[in-house]
Amino acid sequence: MSRKQLFQSGTLGELILKNRFILAPMTRISATVTGDVSPLMTEYYKGFARGGFGALITEGVYTDRAFSQGYKGQPGITDSSQQESWKKLIHDVKSEDTKIIMQLMHAGALSQFNKFSSETCGPSAVLPKGEQMAFYHGHGGYARPKEMTREEIKAAISGFVEAAQRAQDAGVDGIEIHGANGYLLDQFLTDYSNLREDEYGGNVISRVRLTSEIIERIREKVGKAFTLGVRTSQAKVNDFDHKWQGQIDDAKIIFTSLAKAGASYIHTTELLATAAAFNSGNAVASTSLAGLARKYSDLPVIANGGLNSPDEAVEMIKTDQAQFVAIGKGALAAPDLPNKIQRYEQLPEFDFAILTPIADIKKSEISHA
Ligand SMILES: Cc1cc2nc3c(=O)[nH]c(=O)nc-3n(C[C@H](O)[C@H](O)[C@H](O)COP(=O)(O)O)c2cc1C
Repeated sequence: MSRKQLFQSGTLGELILKNRFILAPMTRISATVTGDVSPLMTEYYKGFARGGFGALITEGVYTDRAFSQGYKGQPGITDSSQQESWKKLIHDVKSEDTKIIMQLMHAGALSQFNKFSSETCGPSAVLPKGEQMAFYHGHGGYARPKEMTREEIKAAISGFVEAAQRAQDAGVDGIEIHGANGYLLDQFLTDYSNLREDEYGGNVISRVRLTSEIIERIREKVGKAFTLGVRTSQAKVNDFDHKWQGQIDDAKIIFTSLAKAGASYIHTTELLATAAAFNSGNAVASTSLAGLARKYSDLPVIANGGLNSPDEAVEMIKTDQAQFVAIGKGALAAPDLPNKIQRYEQLPEFDFAILTPIADIKKSEISHA
């Protein structure tokens, strides 16, 4: 397999993507004060569409008007005004022959700003590790979340389902549930943040239950012929080194559960997508997290994390560890990364200045997109 094959079409759920490059979801806190899509966001996403990506996954979009919002300037999809505002962006991206998948996100205990609530919530009242992110207007430690009641869990599930319905009606090609990076669904999955004794806590089967239920409930709503993926990780924005305690046994349970619930694809993210997921010596355990997702879910897999060289992307796909690669910072450095790779052009280095002091979209990004 050569880099040319990265430009062959591939199947992601119900979608046929023109190539194997997907824009990774990236929160850029550039929505209006009411959580609507701003014109700048539309221009920004159009840049990646023109730049040759087969699909774009949007930044994490908040799902309800209770506890889901994580950041000031984050877009939502919780009312008809927010829904309307997505329509132009979705239309414009699709006009560039690119698919668009909306990532639905509930920040849970990692919420740094929520105009609907002064409290945060999580599976248990465990103080999150780490510090709030300054480039998203945060400072200091996180608040201690309140333990979610069963009613609040039900409401969060309904929030995801209603948001998915709104997104589908607004014209997205697919939906991705954000089950990764330390946000609410990952808080439920993680042993140290989930101390519950009901059916949502305890062993890993119970800890992945909330994500599985959300997938099942959304699947009932959006129908079989709609692409519904889920993102999974070990690392978190507030705990980079976290590994699943049960290692390969956990991976097996998690990925088979998500597939059984009705997911169309799994999106894995690691610091380095090519690295072994666990440090144990046996052959299966030395497979990447993406490879394990592929093996245990038997679904299409998107691999993410440090995949900036086309050779690594080829390797992941050739070895059937993934069918697609998602590119984050490399795409910020070069919104036309797929086009550049196709033309054998050199790729620019990512410069963190783009996200400082605040990670909002800069007008200068648009002009060169
Ligand atoms: C500014 C920024 C914002 C991000 N926001 C999100 C997000 O909203 N949802 C998500 O799942 N991941 C988010 N991520 C993580 C990226 O999707 C990706 O996993 C990470 O950048 C690693 O991939 P890369 O090595 O290609 O950059 C964000 C990353 C960056 C740099």
